[in-house]
Amino acid sequence: MEVRRDPRQFLFFIILIILINSPESHNPGFNPRSRYDEVIEREWEQLDILNRTRWGDFDTKENKWLNITGLRKQDAFTWDVLGNVKSRARERMRGVLGERTQGWLDGKHEDERKETVYRNISGFVQGEWVLSPLSRTRPALDLLNATGHIHEFAQLGDFDRNLTGTHGMVRLHLTEVDGRQRTDENRTMSELKAKVVIGDAESWGDNWWEFNLNGVHFPEFGGAVLTTTSERFSGIFALPHLQLSPHLYLSSQELLNRTIHQTIQNQLDRPFPVWNPWSSTVEDAAEGIMATTHCELILFLQEAPVQLLDRHGQPANQPDLEWLEQEIRFPTGANVPLHSQMSMDMVGFSPDCGFVIESKGPPDFPPSEAMHLVGLKTEEFNDDAKRSILAFAVTLAFQLMFIIRQAKEAATPSTRNRISFYTIAIMALGDGFMFLALVFLHLFLGTSQLQLFTIAFLALFSVVLELRFLMDIWTVQATEQMRQDRQQASATPPSPQPPSTPSPSPQPPSTPSPTPAPPRAPPPSQNDAPPLATATATQPQPTPTPPPPPPPVIITPDQDDPADNEPLLPTTNPPAAATPTEISPRAELGALYSRYCFLLIVTFFITLQFTTMRSTARAFYFNTLSFLYLSFWLPQIYRNIMRNCRKALRWDFVLGQSAVRLVPIAYFYAVESNVLFSRTDLQGLAVLVGWVWCQIVVLAAQEVLGSRFFVREGWAPPAYDYHPVLREDEEGATMPIGSSSPSPISASGESESALHPGESRAKGKKLFDCSICATDLEVPVIPAGGGGPDVQGLGALTLQRRAYMVTPCRHIFHSACLEGWMRYRLQCPNCREVLPPL
Ligand SMILES: *[C@@H]1O[C@H](CO)[C@@H](O)[C@H](O)[C@H]1NC(C)=O
Ligand SMILES: *[C@@H]1O[C@H](CO)[C@@H](O)[C@H](O)[C@H]1NC(C)=O
Ligand SMILES: *[C@@H]1O[C@H](CO)[C@@H](O)[C@H](O)[C@H]1NC(C)=O
Ligand SMILES: *[C@@H]1O[C@H](CO)[C@@H](O)[C@H](O)[C@H]1NC(C)=O
Ligand SMILES: *[C@@H]1O[C@H](CO)[C@@H](O)[C@H](O)[C@H]1NC(C)=O
Ligand SMILES: *[C@@H]1O[C@H](CO)[C@@H](O)[C@H](O)[C@H]1NC(C)=O
Ligand SMILES: *[C@@H]1O[C@H](CO)[C@@H](O)[C@H](O)[C@H]1NC(C)=O
Ligand SMILES: [Zn+2]
Ligand SMILES: [Zn+2]
Repeated sequence: MEVRRDPRQFLFFIILIILINSPESHNPGFNPRSRYDEVIEREWEQLDILNRTRWGDFDTKENKWLNITGLRKQDAFTWDVLGNVKSRARERMRGVLGERTQGWLDGKHEDERKETVYRNISGFVQGEWVLSPLSRTRPALDLLNATGHIHEFAQLGDFDRNLTGTHGMVRLHLTEVDGRQRTDENRTMSELKAKVVIGDAESWGDNWWEFNLNGVHFPEFGGAVLTTTSERFSGIFALPHLQLSPHLYLSSQELLNRTIHQTIQNQLDRPFPVWNPWSSTVEDAAEGIMATTHCELILFLQEAPVQLLDRHGQPANQPDLEWLEQEIRFPTGANVPLHSQMSMDMVGFSPDCGFVIESKGPPDFPPSEAMHLVGLKTEEFNDDAKRSILAFAVTLAFQLMFIIRQAKEAATPSTRNRISFYTIAIMALGDGFMFLALVFLHLFLGTSQLQLFTIAFLALFSVVLELRFLMDIWTVQATEQMRQDRQQASATPPSPQPPSTPSPSPQPPSTPSPTPAPPRAPPPSQNDAPPLATATATQPQPTPTPPPPPPPVIITPDQDDPADNEPLLPTTNPPAAATPTEISPRAELGALYSRYCFLLIVTFFITLQFTTMRSTARAFYFNTLSFLYLSFWLPQIYRNIMRNCRKALRWDFVLGQSAVRLVPIAYFYAVESNVLFSRTDLQGLAVLVGWVWCQIVVLAAQEVLGSRFFVREGWAPPAYDYHPVLREDEEGATMPIGSSSPSPISASGESESALHPGESRAKGKKLFDCSICATDLEVPVIPAGGGGPDVQGLGALTLQRRAYMVTPCRHIFHSACLEGWMRYRLQCPNCREVLPPL
């Protein structure tokens, strides 16, 4: 019943997330219609100005201003820098296109040769920017006072998107707008949209911004001019005046005259108001009301000619670019020749904040340092993404295979008991997170890829498997925990009254908290009374001090008759106690699933919030998250120590899961143009890999040297040691009894030596026989009074001790034999005594 409640909770949280993250529709002003009409009116006016003006009508040096917001004199923008910025952009263009630049600027050519640039530059480019000496930064107050905004924004301080540092990263996602080209046969112009992600390396916490620009693209020679548009700056209407030459002015004016007209018409046709169709805010939120004031930006882009490369990466002959582009977009199976990446040269200028930036690269910087902005066309990027997604699917499949094999191996209660619940739980959380991420990834990618959903399904499948496995583990371990609690209650003679029986049920709720409580001091067997408990506790410590003499050990069950009556209460109780104890694990399980879903959703939600934080905080969060996630072997190591067991997991599971779970993380940490454009961090990756490696090494060492090899005695609760050092002493109390010994009472040194004539005391070895495989078993024995063995002997002894196992009832077997047996039963094959789990 508890379990059935969870899917609904899960759904509820998903809906909550969608609600919280959906763009808010807010109510702008008291009289939206009339204000909206004003906005449209103003747009028509400005379009009319765009239609009427000529090249040179906007020239601040000659005190010529335009009645377009931002281009008026009273707006006090730093337009006097514009001339220099344009010169700089022309200079950069000459650097890229050579002497043909002037021809493109004037629209006249002697020859008909075209530039080898992409006609459709949809895609992304990224690189670094540096501050240009042309910058003339302005204090925010100056600007606000000039436009009369001072009352509204006085308390807000500096502008958003104000680049104050000297360098940073920049990435442009360009989209060629369909149906917005010039209609002539050569399609010499088209509208272009760009999403800019720009970071400022010297700002506090490495801040970054994301915003949209609109503009025009000249496909013939690869130039583009883009601008932001806002309440304070009608950039798109001023765009022709920002062009680099009169010829380009005319072309862009003609295109914009038409496209702006269309856009305003669309705006009027919409049933709900669209306040700014060219808005620069990414989330489509209207500006001016809740957005803070931000710096405007104008970008001059120049695409570098594409070159074919030969096998050594050197430029080869000139490509037929039209064919190449066609083939990339609509593959016919032809061999696409190796070509250079899409590359852009950028000059940026903020007319209000006054900063000027340039892309970093030659000739000002050596090519080895930076090569301006480089990237891929959309189709190529999608191909890359598809390949990555496929590779990811393969790792998920491997992950599934490993978990299935491990679950099969751990088919018995005793094997399940060894596995740490939290190790598997962390893995399940990781996969659940992956599932959510894959479902939501298309929002970030912008393209919906069918493969993503296929893989999301795979991830979901592995989550289900892991949860199923977790449930099995939990059931076994909760039962074991209850058994131990009951045992502890019966082992403390004075107060095992009925009130102590409910205590197990409050106990489990505390177990899912970070400290795994289940491995609690496990007294070895069920009906042991205190004398034996102390005997077994001292047994692991290889001290020659003789434990209590043998007789009490054997007769204990019969001896404490008075005490035995008390523990009888719980043992007769089970029918009565069964109702709470049977139900509580189920309820626990339900609570567990709720907790799983809750933790998952909360983590995912927090992660979503952190994706928009400053780079430093974001990097810190993701490093921490990855580190915690990759700590999944830690609970297993802990459980091994607490229970003194070591054979919990298959080795292919340990190595396979480590590798397979590192692959996606390594992809995001090391691959430069990964699908999420996350910044690479090889040092961080090295730390994470090293951390996983350390955990594997500790697990391996536990397997070989014993699970407590690095823990001091007394730090971990006493646990039974199946591999004790065998010492011969006078009473022979620590010696295993031979399997053929007639009765446990005769388990003393003399009878044993009589029964095993083949033993060779001189060599420090003794011969027993293993009743499982019925063959001989030779074990090293430290002779009585022989003193401690030398160091070398001790090391050898550590390994030799792994060959045999001695049960608490002092029967001895081959390790392999008893381990095989214990996978099915936790009972001594000889005397049916309960065995502590391995
Ligand atoms: C553009 O100007 C011409 C006259 O030069 C005028 O006929 C036309 O209506 C104007 N178009 C717009 C959209 O204002
Ligand atoms: C500029 O436009 C505004 C708003 O349309 C108008 O009120 C103002 O008179 C215009 N200014 C000039 C100098 O034309
Ligand atoms: C931009 O930042 C610089 C440096 O911190 C500052 O001097 C200037 O006033 C800021 N400009 C705006 C408009 O916020
Ligand atoms: C705003 O501008 C006016 C003149 O246009 C000036 O008198 C006033 O001091 C300015 N205020 C600030 C805070 O700069
Ligand atoms: C440019 O390429 C992109 C990606 O294939 C495509 O979606 C877009 O329609 C193309 N634009 C034009 C104008 O062909
Ligand atoms: C288109 O380009 C061809 C040559 O490639 C040229 O002859 C033609 O005049 C151009 N058309 C326009 C409208 O510019
Ligand atoms: C702008 O478009 C109108 C028609 O919408 C046209 O009459 C006018 O000549 C165009 N102006 C320019 C400068 O192309
Ligand atoms: Zn054997
Ligand atoms: Zn036994």
